[in-house]
Amino acid sequence: MSWIDQHPDMAGAFAAVAEAKSVEQKLFREAMSRLGAAVHVITTDGHAGKTGFTATAVCSVSDAPPTLLVCLNRAATSMPILRGNGVFCVNTLRAGDELIADTFAGRTKVAREARFETGEWGKLSTGSPALMSAVIAFDCRVIEIKAVASHDIYFGIVEAIHQGGSGAALVYHDRLYKQL
Ligand SMILES: Cc1cc2nc3c(=O)[nH]c(=O)nc-3n(C[C@H](O)[C@H](O)[C@H](O)COP(=O)(O)O)c2cc1C
Repeated sequence: MSWIDQHPDMAGAFAAVAEAKSVEQKLFREAMSRLGAAVHVITTDGHAGKTGFTATAVCSVSDAPPTLLVCLNRAATSMPILRGNGVFCVNTLRAGDELIADTFAGRTKVAREARFETGEWGKLSTGSPALMSAVIAFDCRVIEIKAVASHDIYFGIVEAIHQGGSGAALVYHDRLYKQL
């Protein structure tokens, strides 16, 4: 049985994608590089294992109840771990934590298991690692996962918040880390 047969509610969305005319991927990526965004490390820990990855695709969805979304490439090694645990923490990085961003993006070639050796980590409500130096950390429980194109969108209800030190936040713009 195909994926779409198992998810008949998605049939309409797939028909729309087939009819849509998109710009070239290269042009889209170039355009997105001009869109400045906060840099976060998304973490999770539980029976499926412990992992974390750098992400800018994070967005507020609702404040009643407080809900966030995070987009994760289904090809990422973190995908089955996040899906299996059903919890995550969004750690918004402060300026100066570029090494943490690069480590969790796989740019420093540190093994996935050793990524947490960079930075000071604690726990809030769900057991997901929370970065003590984060500008802000949102500890979330997954309520829904939606597959769109290459990514899974994880919707999570915020169970706890940690406010780290004040100061400038880390943003990614023009393929460079900057401060805001
Ligand atoms: C600034 C920046 C932003 C990123 N944003 C995302 C994102 O929103 N979603 C995503 O799936 N990967 C994103 N990535 C790529 C992941 O961090 C990277 O592929 C990660 O190492 C994949 O996880 P894995 O190591 O578990 O395979 C981003 C990378 C960087 C450097």
